[in-house]
Amino acid sequence: MHQSHRQSAFTKTHPQGQSHFPGKWLPGSLPQSCLLFTLSALVAGIGIQARELDAKPHDISDGLALTPPMGWYPWNQFGQEPQNEQLIKEVAHAVVNSGLRDAGYLFVGPDEGICFERGTNGLLTSVLSRYPDGLRGLGDYIHRLGLKYALYTDAGTRTCSKAMPGTKGHEFEDMQVFAEWRCDYVKIDWCNTEGMDVRNAYTLLHQAQLAAGRPIVHSLCSWGEGSPWNWAPAVGHLWRTAGDICGPGRANWESANHIAFFNQKLYSSAGPGHWNDPDMMIAGMSGLTEARNRAFFSLWCMMASPLIAGNDVRTMTPATIAILTNLEAIAVNQDPLGIQGHVVRDTDGLSLWADKKLYDGSQAVMIYNQQAAPTQVQIAWTDLGLDESTKIYVRNLWTHETVGPLAKGIGLTVPAGEAVMLRVSRKNAFPIPPIISANTYLLSFQSSGTAAQELTDSLTVKTAGTDAIRQWQVQKNLPGWLSVKVIRSGERQTFVNTVSTVGLKKGSYHAVVRADNTEPRTGKPMSAIYYDVDLDIPVDVASK
Ligand code: GLA
Repeated sequence: MHQSHRQSAFTKTHPQGQSHFPGKWLPGSLPQSCLLFTLSALVAGIGIQARELDAKPHDISDGLALTPPMGWYPWNQFGQEPQNEQLIKEVAHAVVNSGLRDAGYLFVGPDEGICFERGTNGLLTSVLSRYPDGLRGLGDYIHRLGLKYALYTDAGTRTCSKAMPGTKGHEFEDMQVFAEWRCDYVKIDWCNTEGMDVRNAYTLLHQAQLAAGRPIVHSLCSWGEGSPWNWAPAVGHLWRTAGDICGPGRANWESANHIAFFNQKLYSSAGPGHWNDPDMMIAGMSGLTEARNRAFFSLWCMMASPLIAGNDVRTMTPATIAILTNLEAIAVNQDPLGIQGHVVRDTDGLSLWADKKLYDGSQAVMIYNQQAAPTQVQIAWTDLGLDESTKIYVRNLWTHETVGPLAKGIGLTVPAGEAVMLRVSRKNAFPIPPIISANTYLLSFQSSGTAAQELTDSLTVKTAGTDAIRQWQVQKNLPGWLSVKVIRSGERQTFVNTVSTVGLKKGSYHAVVRADNTEPRTGKPMSAIYYDVDLDIPVDVASK
């Protein structure tokens, strides 16, 4: 069905049949008759119609995952066996050193990797032979690198390989232990769940997480079983919509495409705080060309999918780094409106992905050419819901070139197997929304004697976006020994934490600090920042 020399009123093979870098421009006004994607097709092409969810999205006042979560998980590349503390630490450093962290990839941690077992007291305990610092120690290490800590478990009796205990019957204790390990994100698998009801099971786990009292992103992983898009927004922040994208170490292009075309139909279920998850990414894994990596990343960005890297980030090529950290593409994924783009037209493997309005009034558009030859396409502004007389600037998010202003539409050549991702706007400006990262998420203080002291340490957040962020607001109900002041300077804001040890008794103290901001253009809440403050008082401290 992917004919290379097919010629019709709607698709044209490039005359020379030669390959072009994505999106070679053929700007100009279009005759109405040769428009590739028509508005009527836009309506007819939608598979699953927008519908009422039968469960309201959970209370998003937790400020978590208001944009799709970004991070790294080991499964796609490594599977279970080589995972250990050393590997996760090396990866965490690579996430920082490669620039992934500053591009927004924050959640890092083990997947099913034999990291805990159940002790005789019924509580989870770290497997110290593989994780010598223990899972709390690993969490602290990850937080000190300015990353967030992700862990894995299973809703059933055992994890998928049966190597680790599942949470069934221990939901509340396990979520408590995950909170004590300072986990920020938990993926909950669905193996060994015979006889269990998927919705009830994940609802119970949601309640257990709330009871544990730590803000944790809840990632459901039932591979689409029980159609979670219909009810999971009420109990989780993201849910897998399909089976595994690949076996460990074996990137599977066909599977990725199959999942993408299924996942895109579920667009009406996605939004701030609740996302369709078509699985961890395969971009950058061996066996994929640069063009495929770009196409893959474009698909995941257009679908507002969680961007959880699955490749070996310790050995990435510069080209892979450039793809995974392309801020113009990430801006589409992390857009504060949280709209999932989807296929509005698909003709013989040439698909138009649209309906993704962005926070500045622009919109993202993608043309994906699965045909065997380069194809010339024309997009009319009316295909995008715009009046044909509108003058539009078009930005290619991979070549970083802008053309325009253009009336009526644009023509371009899409190379075989590639995706061209565009942003179209009435203005010749393509701002990037706030993409926040911090230099640490853990501050540790220790008093040094019996006299009262004032101790200070700070944490700095910065944005990779182009819009200035407003001042963060720190929650009011901090413990008496802690005060936090936010100092704003350009694209950075520093949270100065001051601890007063006056009259504190010997012991360990802990606080989770929450800070909130609003996205500057829409005024919508931005994902909250949470970080941990530890205070160690070795001996009683005198009152003033
Ligand atoms: C399931 C999940 C995968 C991975 C494995 C671990 O298959 O879908 O992402 O977590 O379990 O066994």
